[in-house]
Amino acid sequence: NDTEKGTYPHFMLKEIDEQPFVMRRIIQEYQDDSERLKLDEDIRSAVKACDRIYIIAAGTSYHAGLIGKQFLEKMAGIPVEVHVASEFSYNMPLLSEKPLFVFISQSGETADSRSVLVKIKEMGHPALTITNVPGSTLSREANYTLHLHAGPEIAVASTKAYTAQIAVLAILAVDSARARGLELDFDLMQELAIVANAMEMLTDQKETMDELVRENLGITRNAFFIGRSTDYFVCLEGALKLKEISYIQAEGFAGGELKHGTIALIEEGTPVVALATQENVNDSIRSNVQEVVARGANDIIFSIQGLERDSDAFVVPHVHELLTPLVSAVPMQLLAYYAALHRDCDVDKPRNLAKSVTVE
Ligand code: G6P
Repeated sequence: NDTEKGTYPHFMLKEIDEQPFVMRRIIQEYQDDSERLKLDEDIRSAVKACDRIYIIAAGTSYHAGLIGKQFLEKMAGIPVEVHVASEFSYNMPLLSEKPLFVFISQSGETADSRSVLVKIKEMGHPALTITNVPGSTLSREANYTLHLHAGPEIAVASTKAYTAQIAVLAILAVDSARARGLELDFDLMQELAIVANAMEMLTDQKETMDELVRENLGITRNAFFIGRSTDYFVCLEGALKLKEISYIQAEGFAGGELKHGTIALIEEGTPVVALATQENVNDSIRSNVQEVVARGANDIIFSIQGLERDSDAFVVPHVHELLTPLVSAVPMQLLAYYAALHRDCDVDKPRNLAKSVTVE
């Protein structure tokens, strides 16, 4: 039963564990009988007709949007902007001639996103909602909906909905690439199946993550997450996860931006989590790690098979380079979970936070 904890101590841990199954369900739901990727024809036409996509979202969904932008631009060649919903109306960008708005929302009820949807509908622009709750406000009010198929997410900290959002955005990007006549040199569904297996290997390593947290995040007041390229976006989410449930002050930064200010905060023993899953930035992120270590930081490097080095704290299984966020997210979630657990925090219901925020 999706709304019961069963033998799990917390919904969050159960939902982290469900991610491989969610990946497999998404593969099933978005495949036709001949195992070809399938998407509603009207969504395909809407993407084909647009000249620019505007992604609107909040919180974790915004972080998924940042990764979605990379997919849509790199695979399908569609320019994409990603906006925080609550800021959009103050800072409305100059819109292209044929914009398509994509709302990403686990709950489909976030008021900040809804107010943008109301506004752009008045302007006559089309909208697609990517949500875990078909029939939610954002889904009903948009022209099109893509379903995340993640099953109910109960813990306030979003986990399986985040990875489902990334997977569905990859599907949208691959389908859009095809619709535009572009050839891709990989089979997304096969790659997602590899991701599902990798996720399973990661959720089997809870003790290792628990140990890593005990050793590195035990008594710290703050922590930094650094990464470059795609890893940077996962760092933003990793830091959000950690701060929202463990109350450790955590921030994600672009590796190259550190020296422009943040490095001043590094003290003896400050934990710095570094993500290194991208080949083209592997050397540069590791030199950023050296910079903080030289100032006393305690480095915790998460890398990927094929790029690992002796100093790494944890190595995730190899997956397609575009899909690394789907696997690197899992140890980030577990890191947050065990940090919150060891601090006796209310893992599923962190203070001051709501699962869905229906006020602006
Ligand atoms: C709240 C939740 C977050 C979530 C955000 C956006 O702040 O606590 O976990 O990411 O809302 O929610 P949505 O349902 O629109 O994805």
